[in-house]
Amino acid sequence: MQKVKIFDTTLRDGEQSAGVNLNKSEKLEIARQLERLNVDIIEAGFPAASPGDLASVKEIARTIKGASVTGLARAVITDIDAAWEALKDGAEPRLHTFIATSPIHRQYKLKQTKEQVIETAVQTVKYAASKFSVVQWSAEDACRTELPFLAEIIEEVIKAGARVINIPDTVGYINPEEYGAVFDYLFENVPSIGKVELSTHCHDDLGLAVANSLAAVKHGARQVEGTINGIGERAGNTSLEELAVALHIRKDYFNLETGLNLQEISRTSSLISKLTGMPVPPNKAVVGRNAFAHESGIHQDGVLKEKTTYEIISPELVGFQNNSLVLGKHSGRHAFRNRLQELGLSVPEEDIKRLFGVFKDLADRKKEMTDEDLVAIVLEERLSK
Ligand code: KIV
Ligand code: ZN
Repeated sequence: MQKVKIFDTTLRDGEQSAGVNLNKSEKLEIARQLERLNVDIIEAGFPAASPGDLASVKEIARTIKGASVTGLARAVITDIDAAWEALKDGAEPRLHTFIATSPIHRQYKLKQTKEQVIETAVQTVKYAASKFSVVQWSAEDACRTELPFLAEIIEEVIKAGARVINIPDTVGYINPEEYGAVFDYLFENVPSIGKVELSTHCHDDLGLAVANSLAAVKHGARQVEGTINGIGERAGNTSLEELAVALHIRKDYFNLETGLNLQEISRTSSLISKLTGMPVPPNKAVVGRNAFAHESGIHQDGVLKEKTTYEIISPELVGFQNNSLVLGKHSGRHAFRNRLQELGLSVPEEDIKRLFGVFKDLADRKKEMTDEDLVAIVLEERLSK
């Protein structure tokens, strides 16, 4: 089965989440956990952004041996020099440099013509390739760029020495079918495309980041960029844990695998939530508190009979202990009886129906029934006898 590389940018794009600021030791702790998760590449920061970020990237590049470490640089020589200073002691110094290519960015942000953008990109890629072992080049706002121009600039930066070409959906604008077609177009229209690896980098403004990334791999991308818990600029980036589990569960469809140690997912998610101060929403796929919780009687009954009736991912796969049957007003008698047994409360079968009625009355008034509620129901019943 072919492999998809995982490029983790939790420490760079993820740290661009509003209100998040990680210090050096926090970044190092996260990088160590990403190494245990077995990501292929860690984007540790943006060295030109601040002396603190440069120091963090340097420390991570020196320490981490189980993954390549990279840093971001604009198409500016001083940015590339700062990144070199941070990364030169790493095992395989790797740079990620970018320039915007879309008409909106060219006109309003860069104030450069197409020709000038190509020239800047080529010069900076050549400069970077004279220092770094691997240069990755990104076309910022690629998905709002004219396709012929995108193909033209990619051909030029490949000739200048780029080894990985990233196609970011910087503003989370595209949809899966269109994004897949962008990759098809590049494979057909960039003569040197066979010399490089294509990468996907999606933002979640329309809630499509994971779906778009999956479309990209279906159309030939072999590197996926994203963050743990999907944190990142605005609505965030592709959730790497969702993407990796989707590829794993639907191997039959994608026929691709990541090298991630999936059992480290829950630990990685909790650590990042704790250190960034960004809680994981309860209904978040794969890592949310409710991702393996079953509430309705029909589902609980099914899961008690055979887990796979309502569970496509086993909680153990991603490092959780087990699923949970949350008792509430939608729960059925089967789950109620089961929980009483788990709590060691022996209740004769003829009493279950009546106690279940008491349980339903109380559940109507409460959001979630706790084990203490169940104990109280049983003890009250015993006292009233
Ligand atoms: O979203 C984006 O375009 C980026 C680039 C710097 C790759 O984060
Ligand atoms: Zn981004």
